[in-house]
Amino acid sequence: MSDSANALQTGHTPTARRNWTLPMIGAIGLLLLAGCNKSTSSNSVEEEVAQARRIQRVGTVELMAAAGGGAAKSGEEAWKAQCAACHAAGALGAPKMGDAAAWAPRIGAGLAALTNSALKGKNAMPPQAGGALSDLEVSRAVAYMANAGGAKFAEPKAQ
Ligand code: HEC
Repeated sequence: MSDSANALQTGHTPTARRNWTLPMIGAIGLLLLAGCNKSTSSNSVEEEVAQARRIQRVGTVELMAAAGGGAAKSGEEAWKAQCAACHAAGALGAPKMGDAAAWAPRIGAGLAALTNSALKGKNAMPPQAGGALSDLEVSRAVAYMANAGGAKFAEPKAQ
């Protein structure tokens, strides 16, 4: 077994990356085949490579559509994308997700005031709760997290 193959199997490569390794090797193999067998089966191999490229292009477009524009995230999606970083473990003194004791005194302020804290920032929490979410997505994430701590806020709707 070559060193590089060994490293692939034993290294601490993140799963997502490792999952791409096999298809990549497959694609390279296809390209090599295309080079070797040009006279006999080049057509079908080239078709396969072209098809793989078409599939990849569709996948790429979908990823970009999901990242920019599109429908606003739900509270859960927004929370996972941005709030979990601090609120999952209670980093920097953030009230923890699902910790009713930590949320009870805050819930009384109401959804609007809590959303305002997240949008303007509060102590160690930066403005816009630290990132790229819209106001609507932030307010949904606030409702989602406060509800897990005992509140009964309705998920804010798009205007
Ligand atoms: C960089 C860490 C960090 C991130 C990211 C973060 N928060 Fe916070 N959050 C905090 C901290 C720290 C507090 C406690 C602030 C205080 O009361 O001193 C807090 C408090 C809050 C509060 C209570 C505010 C109040 O007035 O009592 C809400 C609501 C809140 N966060 C919502 C969110 C939402 C929603 C997101 C994601 C969109 C988010 N946070 C992302 C750190 C963070």
